[in-house]
Amino acid sequence: MVLGLLRSVRSDERSGGDQRVSEAGFHASLPDPAISSACRRNRFVTGDRVCWAGMSSMMGIVFTEFFDMVEHRHGLRMSEQLLDAVAPANEGAYTAVGNYDHQDMMRYVAELARDTGRSVDMILAEFGEYLFEVFVRRYPGLIESAGSAIEFLGSVEAFIHVEVVKLYPDAELPHFEYPVREQGRLVMVYRSSRWLAPFALGLIRGCIAHFGDALEVRMTDLSEQGTRARFEITPVA
Ligand code: HEM
Repeated sequence: MVLGLLRSVRSDERSGGDQRVSEAGFHASLPDPAISSACRRNRFVTGDRVCWAGMSSMMGIVFTEFFDMVEHRHGLRMSEQLLDAVAPANEGAYTAVGNYDHQDMMRYVAELARDTGRSVDMILAEFGEYLFEVFVRRYPGLIESAGSAIEFLGSVEAFIHVEVVKLYPDAELPHFEYPVREQGRLVMVYRSSRWLAPFALGLIRGCIAHFGDALEVRMTDLSEQGTRARFEITPVA
């Protein structure tokens, strides 16, 4: 029943319906130190990962694509199980243009990890990889703006996410710094109020796979809270 609702709203959207469910999204527009102290008060643990609760909203496209991935890879039954276990306030009525509780997404990920016997980090990375291919289909112009994975990844902060904000003004995006930019090698440092570095790892892997470049990526967690991470992208040894 809940899933039926989810599916009907999403198919409306696919058929061009203009159903703009804009929920009361809470946007964390606080300066970093304020985010950190508020986050510390709102910590909760899902499976093997500490997450931040009650702080921020997340784009509906992330939810709709997450459920597409789950249905595709694990079947409809698994989607139903996740919705039943999490019991979201909106009963699973997600649209790509809405904004929803980030905490619910972390709960779905934790449930899927539990049900499939994998870690939360693995699920987030797999989802990131999946989502990159979705982006390729949805935003071919953005992807074709670069000729290689390194060129594309090097433009995420100054160009890609800037364009994303034009499309989705409510999007909450991470920040990337680039301490090393060399021919064939790139270092990206991720910073966010959310622990989604493994998701970034998946997006980077998806990007490398899409461009077909002989590159590998290594992630190092830089903070105890898991809100900073370093990604080193180098030629395959
Ligand atoms: C065409 C390419 C891309 C598009 C269209 C895109 C779009 C988006 C959107 C809409 C969100 C907002 C989700 C929300 O509101 O919660 C987001 C978040 C995010 N993006 Fe991108 N993105 C792209 C490429 C990348 C790449 C290559 C990376 C990794 C290097 C990346 C890393 C992230 C991360 C980690 C988040 C989660 C938010 C956080 O950690 O604070 N994105 N992206």
